[in-house]
Amino acid sequence: MDQDNIRNFCIIAHIDHGKSTLADRLLEFTGTIEKRKMKEQILDQMDLERERGITIKLQPVRMIYNVQNVKGDQVEQLERAKRSYILNLIDTPGHVDFNYEVSRSLAAVEGAILLVDATKGVQAQTLSNLYLAIEQGLEIIPVINKIDLSNANIEKTKREVIHILGCQENEILLASGKTGEGVEEILQAVIRKIPVPKGNSDRSLRALIFDSKYDVYKGVLAYARIVDGSVRQEDGIYMMATATESSVIEVGYFKPELVVAEVLSAGDIGYIATGLKSVNQCRVGDTITISKSNVKNQISKLPGYKEVKPMVYASFYPVEGDDYNMMRDALEKLKLNDAAFVFELESNLALGRGFRCGFLGILHMEIIQSRLEREFEISPTITTPSVVYKIKTKDQSSSLEANHPSAEKSKTREFFIYSPAEMPDPSIIESISEPYVKLDIISPVSFLGPIMEVMKNTRAEYKNTEYIDSERIILNFNCPLTDVIVNLHDDLKSASSGYASMNYEFLEYRPNDLIKLDILVAGDKVDAFSRIVPKNRSYSEGKRIVEKLKEAIPKQNFTVALQAAVGGKIIARETIAAFRKDVTAKLYGGDVTRKRKLLEKQKKGKKKMKNIGRVTIPSEAFLAVLKK
Ligand code: GTP
Repeated sequence: MDQDNIRNFCIIAHIDHGKSTLADRLLEFTGTIEKRKMKEQILDQMDLERERGITIKLQPVRMIYNVQNVKGDQVEQLERAKRSYILNLIDTPGHVDFNYEVSRSLAAVEGAILLVDATKGVQAQTLSNLYLAIEQGLEIIPVINKIDLSNANIEKTKREVIHILGCQENEILLASGKTGEGVEEILQAVIRKIPVPKGNSDRSLRALIFDSKYDVYKGVLAYARIVDGSVRQEDGIYMMATATESSVIEVGYFKPELVVAEVLSAGDIGYIATGLKSVNQCRVGDTITISKSNVKNQISKLPGYKEVKPMVYASFYPVEGDDYNMMRDALEKLKLNDAAFVFELESNLALGRGFRCGFLGILHMEIIQSRLEREFEISPTITTPSVVYKIKTKDQSSSLEANHPSAEKSKTREFFIYSPAEMPDPSIIESISEPYVKLDIISPVSFLGPIMEVMKNTRAEYKNTEYIDSERIILNFNCPLTDVIVNLHDDLKSASSGYASMNYEFLEYRPNDLIKLDILVAGDKVDAFSRIVPKNRSYSEGKRIVEKLKEAIPKQNFTVALQAAVGGKIIARETIAAFRKDVTAKLYGGDVTRKRKLLEKQKKGKKKMKNIGRVTIPSEAFLAVLKK
């Protein structure tokens, strides 16, 4: 189809404002998916996404829209054009942890539908995603969604949208993903307002890889936006950043399942099956061009993406030693379609061999954990998630410092540690710095009091307040990332009956008075429970953790002491009384098979336990101590 008849766009919104549901209606309206095959939130293809009702991965889909009747000034112009359009939509996640998916999608399109829930109004990720889209120079189509709901406040939401976008009232469309109202108007606005993709089909191929996925038969599939040129089966291609050559197995587009096509040309969004065996050779953000060496040298690379840095690290240890290889394979598979997830090997005296994993946030970590369980039946022991700390050692300690693994790598007095277990001896430390973020909280003014109460429990510094309108405010804070990642989101939601939302981005490293808090179980220090805490909170944190552990660790057949310690000094203690569980006790008589069955069941349950010293700790305990 003619390039003039292609429109590429995505839908951006705060979490739960209805992107995936609206996408369903667009797919239905354009007949992309037959009604009988339609299921809710069809673009959320992972089971986990469907179950949790959240989008985790970006998902492209191509629709053909046959224009019946376009309203507006440009009717004539459109009438003259062909009446059939290719609309490439990329559905994106709304949660802050998956912002990287959003920014990648935005670089592949020319426009964005900004969706705002009429009952919730503008929220934190509405703004952060809007700013990302504006930075990319995208055309924005504002849409107010869920207008079918009786508590929809359309007028107020309109005022908020006008305030953040500076648009005219008549540019704002109204829609309901539930009833389908307004869907046709949205499609027509997409055609009218979103620019035709630039780029030249006659030039040499340049395609931007915005995602990738591994397919057992076709090798790595590069999800690509063709910027210039065209690509078809058997073409020789060249990945510019990794200097990898390959021959195209097949090209095609998403419906959302893969549909083979003869060719992809400038303006198109589709997949290129590269036949490559490793996603490392076909990196997100790279440019694909043709492999003819006389041409490829003259081609300039497309601007890629800034590399994302994991914000949170935690170590995953297999529960039984021999699961190690299985877990490595599983993590490698998960990494194949998650560009933001990183891991490396690690070993620990008590826990054995495992993996240090980096995530964008706690939700990202939970998702990887659930996927491990669900797709690979592995439930690892997970150490307390930690941000990355910057350690500066005293001058005279250079010899000691050289012994530290991270220091050795960097050969400087300053180095980063990725888990509390790596913290050097306090006597050689000059300072410990932790990451701070710029935190924005958006809320109705009426919840200001409770929100400030929540913030008092953190170390956040209040900066200022902006008004979106007379009823809604944006509160700005600078806050240590640690205080944000674990519970703040939930605390804000409960303090504001669900109305407040937050967003954060990295600001800087700042030195603070921090110390390492150790946890001892039956006298053994358990690194997995260690954490770095502000000195003045060490007592309350220590107490909280041992209390939590008392609930989470089942009774053993001996008394177990749970202790929190700072530098060898015990600051809190709890005790788990002894108990012996005899599962077969209630079975009288000699039913051996039943007895065996029960014992088997118990053994299976035990599989999810980790033996640390003499104590058996269930894998849930490692995460339970996180929650406040
Ligand atoms: P994330 O991808 O997780 O960010 O969410 P999303 O923006 O894709 O939202 P989703 O489409 O999953 O919708 C969230 C909830 O709102 C679901 O329970 C939908 O059924 C509901 N919903 C979406 N659109 C409408 C609408 O127009 N009217 C009503 N009444 N409910 C809607």
